Amino acid sequence: MNSIQNQARQLTEAGELRHLLTLDGLDRNMVTALLERATGYLRPSGTRPATDNALAGSTVANLFFEPSTRTRASFELAAKRMNADVLNLDVNTSSRIKGESILDTIYTLQAMQVDVFVIRDASAGVSAMIANHVEPHVSVLNAGEANISHPTQGLLDILTIQQHNPCFESLTVTIVGDIAHSRVACSAVQGLRIMGTSDIRLVSPPGLEPDMADFPGSKFTHDIDSAIKDSDVVMALRVQKERIVKESDLITNEQYLLQYGLTAERMKQAKPDAIVMHPGPMNRNVEITDEVADSDQSVIEQQVTNGLAIRMAILATITETRKKG
Ligand code: CP
Repeated sequence: MNSIQNQARQLTEAGELRHLLTLDGLDRNMVTALLERATGYLRPSGTRPATDNALAGSTVANLFFEPSTRTRASFELAAKRMNADVLNLDVNTSSRIKGESILDTIYTLQAMQVDVFVIRDASAGVSAMIANHVEPHVSVLNAGEANISHPTQGLLDILTIQQHNPCFESLTVTIVGDIAHSRVACSAVQGLRIMGTSDIRLVSPPGLEPDMADFPGSKFTHDIDSAIKDSDVVMALRVQKERIVKESDLITNEQYLLQYGLTAERMKQAKPDAIVMHPGPMNRNVEITDEVADSDQSVIEQQVTNGLAIRMAILATITETRKKG
């Protein structure tokens, strides 16, 4: 997977972030700097959100060829709060429906002086392919790519974990669910490994096992209860029925909850101060019960808040790189 992504260099010759396509290959200093920058954009709930002029004069285009609430809304708000012009292309009424290639759509928008493309697509390699074709002053941000990469989600997950326990090296993190189809799991594991976490446990039902070549250094089991035991962080993933092609890989919602759902009973196995994460959107009472999703251990809304701050940090960072360019 990474050969496709690495065809587009995401760092400049000087080692600065120009595109964000994957967390793979970023170093701890760069990730730490992004987390610190994002933290600077956080404000207490009920107060005015952070704003600045970092993107004044820049134009950001959001091109989401798959559904999204969190990522799309937070990229739009992030860009607007930093004074960018923002274009949200309605892909259902765009000329792509008439057969225009995605590259022709990009060239058309680039001709209108779009500086940053935020791309979500169901196909692997689309963000990297676009990054290989845009002009040198233009940046591409991967907002979710097939089952391969969701780097801003990975960063917001790392920031959320850091807020609860910054000792990444000593953490036990368990990720439960449809790992086979999860770009969230890929980017979370890449981010955790960059930060030094070595005890990463992956759990999925039979038929939804990952290719462990994509998760070096992680352990896999079908046994959710043994995996959750003594975990500091438990992340439930959505069952992605839209990506499951073999009917036999589907289990009913009731079976899933019984066998792999994150329940209060199962969470008793984790450390008492463990946090519960979910990238959203949630299938409540399938992969996670209402009781757990709404419990004091849940940091699911905090993940959303952090997502906006992370996207502000990324946009500000790549804009600095572009301006130096
Ligand atoms: N976690 C996530 O990517 O959510 P959306 O699909 O709503 O953007």
